[in-house]
Amino acid sequence: MSGERRPVVDLTDEQARRALPLKWGTVPRDVIPAWVAEMDYALDPVVLEAVQRALADGITGYPLFGHDPALAEAYAGWADRHFGWAPEPEAVIPVVDVTAGVRVAIDVFSGPGGVVFPTPGYNAQLGLASITGRDEVRLEVPASAERAEIDLDRLDRMFAEGAQTLLLTQPHNPWGRVFTRAELEGIRDVVVRHGARVVSDEIHAPLALPGVEHVSYLAIEGTHDHAVAVVAASKAFNTAGLRCAQLVVPDAASRRLLADQPMARNDSHSPLGAIAARTAYAEGDPWLASLVERLDQQRALLGDLLATHLPLVRMRPVEATYLAWLDASAYGHDDAAAVALERGRVKVSPGESYAPGTTGHVRLNFATSPERLTEVVERLARAWA
Ligand SMILES: Cc1ncc(COP(=O)(O)O)c(C=O)c1O
Repeated sequence: MSGERRPVVDLTDEQARRALPLKWGTVPRDVIPAWVAEMDYALDPVVLEAVQRALADGITGYPLFGHDPALAEAYAGWADRHFGWAPEPEAVIPVVDVTAGVRVAIDVFSGPGGVVFPTPGYNAQLGLASITGRDEVRLEVPASAERAEIDLDRLDRMFAEGAQTLLLTQPHNPWGRVFTRAELEGIRDVVVRHGARVVSDEIHAPLALPGVEHVSYLAIEGTHDHAVAVVAASKAFNTAGLRCAQLVVPDAASRRLLADQPMARNDSHSPLGAIAARTAYAEGDPWLASLVERLDQQRALLGDLLATHLPLVRMRPVEATYLAWLDASAYGHDDAAAVALERGRVKVSPGESYAPGTTGHVRLNFATSPERLTEVVERLARAWA
């Protein structure tokens, strides 16, 4: 899809406080928020215009339940352009958000055995297995490992001991990893050996940064009978509040099973979210290209700033997302995030919320302006060093 590049526009502090009530509105005015995964950037004007037009047209009623052909076609086109693989449009089913999509997928498709959750893991999905009445089986990656990988032998043992589902996050938050085709094939082989299932949370796929290539788990041969993906435009386009993600269910029998569920199974999505997602997928490429370029620059800037001001901090390579996993334990604080807030007036996410015991680690959101990121690291240096 061609089109004139549209630039990323930084929000001022005042604009960010209005636009992002959770990220900015819950911290004192002297604190710079670098925590929850929202970006300090103005919306893509094309997406904004589509939502404004929808509101002006009075599209405030129920959305299309179950299947939205325009949204599904737009996603399939987008996936084809970006990843060289696309589901058939019938496979794309709107849900309210990614976390709900993951929950529904486990509820409807998985056996009653445990759900393997690699940790550190996305904090809002810790405990998700138990909501579905299943045990959460944590596949821990040492917080200090240089390169975070899924240990296939341990995964194999977990399935042998009764787990039946892997909740994969691809690309991974907070590891920053984009799993390679070979890694995904390795996972598939273990899963298939045990007749287990995979739910692949791919919300960060649009945010694969230069140097890596996102491969959907569903693009791996021999996965369609045991896997679904949960995807969304909401993370890359800052539209989480509009409430629409998509379940990709490539297997027709599974789709029938889903369609036969009681309506109460799914909290329905918003029509405005569906329009935002459809527009982002169909027309968002020129803005997304600018975003990825900006995030690549921010990633490099963060590396430079850390080397200058906090040389003992170890940052895992960030292959995707705008969320850096920082090991600050060399500075010796019991709770690095609390010290960052109290002394540095920067709110970062505590490592502890992604994996118990990682109090020397934090997750830093660098989707902001270069000036703010510079100020964030200078403040962290004053707080920690
Ligand atoms: C891996 C992952 N999944 C899901 C979400 C949240 O998605 P949603 O708000 O659509 O549930 C996030 C948010 O940052 C995330 O990092």
